[in-house]
Amino acid sequence: MCGIIGFAGKAEAVPVLLDGLERLEYRGYDSAGIAVVSEDGALQVKKSKGRLSVLQKLLETQEPLSGNIGIGHTRWATHGEPNDTNAHPHVGQGGKIAVVHNGIIENYLEIKQSLMRKGFVFSSDTDTEVIVQLLEYYYRKKSDLLEAVYDVLNRIKGAYALGILCSDFPDQIVAARKDAPLLIGYGEDGNYIASDATALLAHTRTVTYMEDDEVAVLTAEGVRIFDGDRSLLEKEKHTIEWDVSAAEKCGYAHFMLKEIMEQPEAVRKTISCRIADKEIVLEELKDAKELLKNISRIYIVACGSAYHVGMVGKYALEKLLHIPVEASLASEFRYSEPLLGESALVIVISQSGETLDSMAALREAKRKGSRVLSIVNVMGSSIARESDYVLYTWAGPEIAVATTKAYTTQMVLLLLLGVYLAKQSDIIVREEYGKIVGEFQKLPEKISAVLNNLKDYQKSASRYFNHNSVFYIGRNVDYALGLEGSLKLKEISYIHSESYAAGELKHGTISLIEPGTLVIALAMYEPLAEKTLSNIVEVRSRGAEVIAITTELTAQLIGSQSSELFVLPETHPLLQPVLGVIPLQLFAYYVALNRGCDIDKPRNLAKSVTVE
Ligand code: G6P
Repeated sequence: MCGIIGFAGKAEAVPVLLDGLERLEYRGYDSAGIAVVSEDGALQVKKSKGRLSVLQKLLETQEPLSGNIGIGHTRWATHGEPNDTNAHPHVGQGGKIAVVHNGIIENYLEIKQSLMRKGFVFSSDTDTEVIVQLLEYYYRKKSDLLEAVYDVLNRIKGAYALGILCSDFPDQIVAARKDAPLLIGYGEDGNYIASDATALLAHTRTVTYMEDDEVAVLTAEGVRIFDGDRSLLEKEKHTIEWDVSAAEKCGYAHFMLKEIMEQPEAVRKTISCRIADKEIVLEELKDAKELLKNISRIYIVACGSAYHVGMVGKYALEKLLHIPVEASLASEFRYSEPLLGESALVIVISQSGETLDSMAALREAKRKGSRVLSIVNVMGSSIARESDYVLYTWAGPEIAVATTKAYTTQMVLLLLLGVYLAKQSDIIVREEYGKIVGEFQKLPEKISAVLNNLKDYQKSASRYFNHNSVFYIGRNVDYALGLEGSLKLKEISYIHSESYAAGELKHGTISLIEPGTLVIALAMYEPLAEKTLSNIVEVRSRGAEVIAITTELTAQLIGSQSSELFVLPETHPLLQPVLGVIPLQLFAYYVALNRGCDIDKPRNLAKSVTVE
């Protein structure tokens, strides 16, 4: 969702804020703005509808803002359309206080009405303006900014990360959070707040993660963090391992392509520290045996692509562990009365570790006594911090909105977990275990082999990019893969697309197949390849064009019935989806490229979804 940056230091704030916003733009990009307090104590604000580049131009062409302290925001609209007025920062009626906000204030209407009765006039449609006007109200009453902030936090309900500037305190930023990410960065030139670490990498790697209900006061000289009772805290500092280049395009046209190409290395990082002497070692899960004894079912809970990983996991973990595994959409999970309790293990998968629905599912699971294991990419994120066990994917920062390397590494880690647990509970035989472990280690090189054929997918995409509708079909894990392939295509190319369990198509949807319809048939899962072949024949007989993806094992069988065939290297059937997703990512990428789409920042989307 929205991105927040703040800087209190010795250097000019504007370039620091703009650089930070550029790196945070993937969180939301329908408008942007900054507020800076000048040396003579004046609050200056510039904001604009559209991409950050519009704001940058505005700043270049108008009188420059100057000052060593400021806050910035890039928005993904919730309340109020994207326009100049609804853009952040929002300024209080007295013109002294500015606020940037990520999250949603649920009781904003009630507060707005009460403030309007007191004579406050609102100019925007946002929930955020309520925060700043309320702050103004309490500040006028108490003349103590920090006290006024606490009063506001006591009154508002919902999720927020806040950055606050007040020209009466020209050397201070006040920050607060609840259920939305915010971290503090400690630099040589000053101190920072940011929605995530990528915004700070160019300045510092030393950070502290703010917790719910904490309030921080930053100046150029230092940072004080207080808990909800106003007690000063001694917070731990962490070092971010990522380097700046990891969050830069490094010559690639798009972050998405860069991240696709990074997959061999990302997968290597995910597994290399977890396989030693042909054994899977999950240091994070030392009491696995004990844990398994008490578990009779597993829920895998996630959103978007991470949910698709969960679907692959469902098939794999049931097979490996012989217990029921359900993949559940986080937004549905907590409203569906899942059978939680001590005998259920809940696995939450999230790249950002901040997705609100996944976070809420985690809390519900814990409240009902289940243990929670999370698979997360972003270190120190909320989901990671609140889980009983965390497995980090170590994929490095992912900037493109459409996930690729995070998806792949999540899948690898979930499968690694499944095999590890199967070994711990003596379900898997030694020989099979050895084979799979060997295949895990070969994955990076096999992914590279698929990527070496990038041009073939590029060609195929340039042949089919004009289609208005695309169907993905497959069975078992291939069906789960189809869901991801279809989502990738929709997200970035805006082509209507659906994914169907191949055997289900004839129960209605086949009516949409007509001469020329494009069907992408996934037949990598060898045990069911023949069955999928029958479904391919069904769509072919109705005139569909079929792009088929198989392995060498089934290439001959499937090839005879397809207009185009891609043959992937073989691996253990359990791991085949890791390779299978790569062509789907490349196809979606090149289709979107041919259609001239804004690949890294698709319309209406945001990478980290911190609203329900
Ligand atoms: C958004 C992103 C998706 C992502 C989903 C879950 O919708 O656009 O790419 O899969 O959120 O995000 P998470 O950070 O929890 O994996």
